[in-house]
Amino acid sequence: MTRDTWILEDEGPAAAAKYETLFALANGYRCLRGENPFLATERGGSFIAGVFDKSDAQVLELVNAPDPQGLKVYLDYEAVQANEEGAKNYKRTLDMERGLVESAIVFKSKTGNILELRHEKFVSIANVHRWAERITFKALNFSRRILMESTIDGTGCNAVGHPLDCAKHYEVSGTHGFKPGICLSAVTNERRIEIAEASVIACEDQGACLNLLRLRQGRESITEVYELKLEQGREVTVWRFGATFCSRETPGFLAGACERELASFRKDGYCGELSAHEKAWHKKWDAIDVRIEGDDLAQRSLRFNLFHLASSAPSGDSRSSIGAKGLHGEGYKGHVFWDTETFMFPFFLHTQAEVARDLLLYRFMTLEGARANAAASGCQGARFAWESADDGIETTPRWGVDYAGNHVRIWTGDIEVHINADISYAILAYYRATGDRVFMKDYGLQMLLEIARFWAGFVKADTHGKSFSIKNVIGPDEFHEHVDDNAYTNYLVRWAFGKTLEIAGDFENESPDSFAAIMERSGTAKLEFRRWKEVSEGLLLPKDEDTGVIEQFSGYFGLKEYPIREWDENDMPIWPAGLDVSKLGETTLIKQPDVVMLFAMLPEEFPRESKIVNYDFYEARTMHKSSLSPSIYSMVGLSLGKTSHAYRYFLTSIRTDLDDNQGNASLGIHAASMGGAWQSAVFGFGGFSLDAKGIPQFDPWLPEEWTSLSYAVKVGRAELRVRVSRESIRVESDMSLKVVVAGREIMLESGTPGTFPVAKCD
Ligand code: BGC
Repeated sequence: MTRDTWILEDEGPAAAAKYETLFALANGYRCLRGENPFLATERGGSFIAGVFDKSDAQVLELVNAPDPQGLKVYLDYEAVQANEEGAKNYKRTLDMERGLVESAIVFKSKTGNILELRHEKFVSIANVHRWAERITFKALNFSRRILMESTIDGTGCNAVGHPLDCAKHYEVSGTHGFKPGICLSAVTNERRIEIAEASVIACEDQGACLNLLRLRQGRESITEVYELKLEQGREVTVWRFGATFCSRETPGFLAGACERELASFRKDGYCGELSAHEKAWHKKWDAIDVRIEGDDLAQRSLRFNLFHLASSAPSGDSRSSIGAKGLHGEGYKGHVFWDTETFMFPFFLHTQAEVARDLLLYRFMTLEGARANAAASGCQGARFAWESADDGIETTPRWGVDYAGNHVRIWTGDIEVHINADISYAILAYYRATGDRVFMKDYGLQMLLEIARFWAGFVKADTHGKSFSIKNVIGPDEFHEHVDDNAYTNYLVRWAFGKTLEIAGDFENESPDSFAAIMERSGTAKLEFRRWKEVSEGLLLPKDEDTGVIEQFSGYFGLKEYPIREWDENDMPIWPAGLDVSKLGETTLIKQPDVVMLFAMLPEEFPRESKIVNYDFYEARTMHKSSLSPSIYSMVGLSLGKTSHAYRYFLTSIRTDLDDNQGNASLGIHAASMGGAWQSAVFGFGGFSLDAKGIPQFDPWLPEEWTSLSYAVKVGRAELRVRVSRESIRVESDMSLKVVVAGREIMLESGTPGTFPVAKCD
């Protein structure tokens, strides 16, 4: 396999804002947007996980924090820029294997001097407080000094240039010159979170040619200006060492912490940290990589998804989770949606279960907010926020813009309550895959119970009290608001009730003391169980008895049909002619899978024929206006033998940000789609699933482009390595366990791979 499938190349100035996202580097603690040292920054930014603030913005948002990346090189007093006359041989690449961005430029100044410059940047995943750059200069036809400016900028704000949304969330509390080295401290307006950014420049040549000329200390920024004496033909390497701290995790004087960190960073050296960072990535890739042979485009694109998804995971910090746009931009204000539990979670669960646990713990940490949300809807128990920031209080903006550009009320934060069932689902999936009883005892069961208490109060009984409805909600398809009995919500709620009662029963039998303590913590009385059972048995599950199509919500079948007949160059549906996009709720068009989501999540609950009928019906009406859509159609399609579209949907999903097929990649990555891409590769093509008892199943299928597919998954304490070729599947486990391959039960001995023929491929 070529190294090429690890490398992504920048397309240049025309797509600068998109590449600031695509080349952003994150380590779960922080993210530095992929600002291009040779281009003017378009949507720059620096984000620290969990640093939210509201100030005068509509809602709490992830703070676009002071940006330490300012770097300018001047040759003959002219800034070295790729888009200026004289810039030649410009190139920038993301190396996903090593976790770094490399750029190179040969720049000719107006005076005719030619400078060759190479730049490399990484945000360490070995020590999350560190980031660094290596800049190598070579004067090709001159000998003289050049100037270099290094800036920490505290002037930025969120939503720059947007008159209604822009907000400055912090004030700069001080700038410090370490001579050499600079530091800027800031404090957020409301939460009073302190942040300190520091950097220092050093030269390989120990001061021989690098001199600090000036320190510019502004009110909101700090800059060091260095001169670097170059001799024709001789390479000079300079490093910029960066350190970041924040009062969320570091007590005390942060500028002092930065100064100490920079000193030890310099001692460890650029290469020392880079090698620790590369080693950490090597280990991570060993756990997460999915190898596709025979299709370099799919391989590179899929790795791009895994790279950014893995970079977004909180680093051992259960107080933050992963936002819909990762840590990579301001999109969706850094908020956490169902995207995390439903789309990203399975990837972590089966590759790095400790991260999956942290993601669930984040929800536990926000329980108090969730209780307040439930109380606000007049219910007991917990209603997790549709959009969550740092405390779990609902943070969905109340106003937004529809597809027609109208200013509209956003209802998702009030009524897109299925998030509660999605969280139950993730807790149960975690328990099934890991058997982590301690988690269930300390956190999981309590959340399940508090969620169930919410539903018990939220449902509406009919006049006889025998059947129950969930009214006035939004399902995954957000084109339709204020609907009753959304099938996705009702099915999932019923299922979660059943599982919650089952696990509660197990705990009561096996550990009565801890069960009593959990019941108390969650405020649940045993009496409530009877009602839960009645509710789950009586919940309306809409369906058309003649066709077998599950009605997405009550009244959906009566809506107006607008057949989709045209697709754009990215294979995305075009709005049908004559449609009023401000009245989508009056049509059967849907934004993304809703009923079909159920087949991805609860496959064993529905007969195959029902899945096929529903898949065909709803696929034809799906506009894929959410990046969460294509991966589900790919994966569910594969499970139903609908292989012809599966590869196309998979490509759409893995190319979401690369092709910018939702048109907003500049605002951050589509992290849910990235999780969906992994699910489509491993659950879909790789055919991996766990049955209800947690036994691994494999039933793969390969598209004609692929000669093989390999991946690793963790189930409990076992790690399974799987390689699917066109003829066979090879499964190896580091623990003896039972697996089912293409329907056949097999006992795998630890360390002894089993190879089995496969019938399915193109
Ligand atoms: C989708 C939601 C998703 C949200 C954040 C919306 O466009 O409809 O399902 O949770 O984006 O990604």
